[in-house]
Amino acid sequence: MTGFRIGAGLLGLTAMAFAAAPAPATAQPTQPAQVDEARLEAAAGGGDPGQWMSVGRTYDEQRFSPLDQIDTETVSDLGLAWYADVETQRGQEATPLFIDGVLYVSTAWSHVYAFDGKTGEQLWHYDPEVPGEVGGHGCCDVVNRGVAAWNGKIYVGVYDARLVALDAATGEEVWSVNTVAEQDSKWPYTITGAPRVVNGKVVIGNGGAEFGVRGFVTAFDAETGDVVWRFYTVPDNPANGFENAALEMAAETWNGEWWTLGGGGTVWDAIIHDPELNLVYLGVGNGSPWNAEFRSPGGGDNLFLSSIVAVDADTGEYVWHYQETPGETWDYTATQPMMLADLEIGGETRRVIMQAPKNGFFYVLDAATGELISGTPYTAQSWTTGEIDESGRPVFVEGAFFGRTGEPFIVAPSAQGAHAWHPWSYSPETGLVYLPLVETAAVMGPAEEYNPVVGRANTGTGGGAPDDIWETQPGAADLPRGGARLLAWDPVAREEIWRTDIKGRVGSGALATAGGLVFSGSPELDGWLAALDAETGQELWRQDTEAGVVAAPMSYELGGVQYVAQLVGYGVPGYGNSNGSRLLVYTLGGTQTLPPTPPAPELVLNPPEQFAEADVIADGQALFTDNCAMCHESSFGNRGLFPDLRYSVRLNSQEAFDAVVLAGALEPNGMIAFGDRLQPADTAAIRAYLVDRAHQQMAANAARQ
Ligand code: HEC
Repeated sequence: MTGFRIGAGLLGLTAMAFAAAPAPATAQPTQPAQVDEARLEAAAGGGDPGQWMSVGRTYDEQRFSPLDQIDTETVSDLGLAWYADVETQRGQEATPLFIDGVLYVSTAWSHVYAFDGKTGEQLWHYDPEVPGEVGGHGCCDVVNRGVAAWNGKIYVGVYDARLVALDAATGEEVWSVNTVAEQDSKWPYTITGAPRVVNGKVVIGNGGAEFGVRGFVTAFDAETGDVVWRFYTVPDNPANGFENAALEMAAETWNGEWWTLGGGGTVWDAIIHDPELNLVYLGVGNGSPWNAEFRSPGGGDNLFLSSIVAVDADTGEYVWHYQETPGETWDYTATQPMMLADLEIGGETRRVIMQAPKNGFFYVLDAATGELISGTPYTAQSWTTGEIDESGRPVFVEGAFFGRTGEPFIVAPSAQGAHAWHPWSYSPETGLVYLPLVETAAVMGPAEEYNPVVGRANTGTGGGAPDDIWETQPGAADLPRGGARLLAWDPVAREEIWRTDIKGRVGSGALATAGGLVFSGSPELDGWLAALDAETGQELWRQDTEAGVVAAPMSYELGGVQYVAQLVGYGVPGYGNSNGSRLLVYTLGGTQTLPPTPPAPELVLNPPEQFAEADVIADGQALFTDNCAMCHESSFGNRGLFPDLRYSVRLNSQEAFDAVVLAGALEPNGMIAFGDRLQPADTAAIRAYLVDRAHQQMAANAARQ
């Protein structure tokens, strides 16, 4: 299906229809989404257990629901209460909010919906009308991970880097700002993360470090949209002076002319707040480009890449940082979910911040000072010895710095990360953290040439690797390369308690509840949501979701009834993906059923005859790697996020192929036009390469029969 985005006209109708209807019986207060600091702080202390007022539920972001109507005994009676279709397909990564009877949820392309929590009636729908061409500014997908609420307004970070405040009652825009400052507007920023509201300020970062950007986080006045403070995560050109002393210190750790490349360090997901310490913690991303030798020739730690940075909540002033991966060169972001907790460590209660980022270490830090309490590998690593030294630095394996050695290296975890953005959860009752783990390893090497163009993906990595690298690199053959699972981890004992069987290729979020349960799903085409015993990992309940599940479930209570909500949908429909993007809401005794899924279209390889010589096919492969692989490569044979182009009917006609690739016929759906950078001879070569790949697959299929 294409053309699924709805226009403003339809939106207007929906809003009008709602205005004319009587107020839903279940939404009690006259002013919806009345969230303030006192209410958010009370929630962390156990108040408002039935509400979910910020993306991680409370400021601690433990994503723990204190509700226990659905428990290990009753869960067998859990069924679907209602579901609502959403208009945008692609990846659905958001955790809904639930405030005083209403669910607020964002979807792909930064749309926002409000639904009645009891009946599922759609109250409003907001479409920010993101231009399709902006779909080419992100590394991964046009996703959105959630909204924020404050004083009657709902805030959404839009894919094209706008921050928008909506009236919680109507979904109409109250204000909208471009989060990118004038001096940075040459870079292609995107927003996929959820805003957080801290004492009347909306805090939001951005993404784009695969494209050359300089990371920063901004706090906006929640009422007016005015900038209150801004914190850059990497230093600018020293000749321009420094925004603050912290960046002057950071500049000492860089070499060369990094500022021309942006440097990276985007804060694209995790931002948390401790009201008592009055700190905001920023999870800072990878370097731009990935290859540190191009970014900062000769080395350097490159602060504040891959660090947790604590800043003053009122002023944005630097307070402390802990760098997880000095000299980051493996796309090791520290943007993964963070949470605050009070843990009993060595006989005393410590206020800690926890993170299990891509690099494979589980960190426990002192929340006030950033002191490293523990850093423990939670999966296999090839880039370190598994140790952290006295000064808090990982003990590197030298060959891992592929940019410096010029040799490819099998890095584990791979750039996909042992844990990416997928929300995790902590149960204060079991003392365990429930962590979506993916065991990965992949070859990384330096690009032969490096010609970055602002606004185009360029990581400075690539190149070939010897066929026998998996045998010759010590230990590589033993690195686990299984799929995604859920891991239960004890952050005090620093050990794994249980893990589930593999449930897919990428992670999916988790929710722990006071009912002794952990909910989590499967991202596969025939996806499902399951409830596990939080102590043992034993599966107690499972239902088909008819779509991939990557987002986290959440739970709320309304009229004395507990509900579990899960947003589902993953990948571009067709090519073996059904998607079926929906919000599913479950309760005890729920009897609703999903309409039958239309059968996934059968994948048929039907390429034309080979029409090009080997040298053209090789050119086509190189062009594909540079321009298309970022989105389409991972799909080869994988039922991935994007169409597997070997199966495209457009391979049969250069005209039909160019209508999409050069002219942008599918641009509204995020298939960007390449007319400004590729010539017809180029797209002919790419088509020849894809036709060749299709024939290879047909030969492989024939050999198997
Ligand atoms: C930013 C991600 C992105 C990049 C980069 C990208 N594509 Fe796409 N492409 C998409 C998406 C998303 C779709 C599905 C669009 C839809 O659902 O209609 C798509 C669809 C297509 C289709 C249509 C498939 C069909 O159904 O027949 C073709 C052909 C295609 N892309 C070719 C290319 C080529 C060639 C390149 C490189 C020159 C490229 N794409 C680069 C995202 C991308």
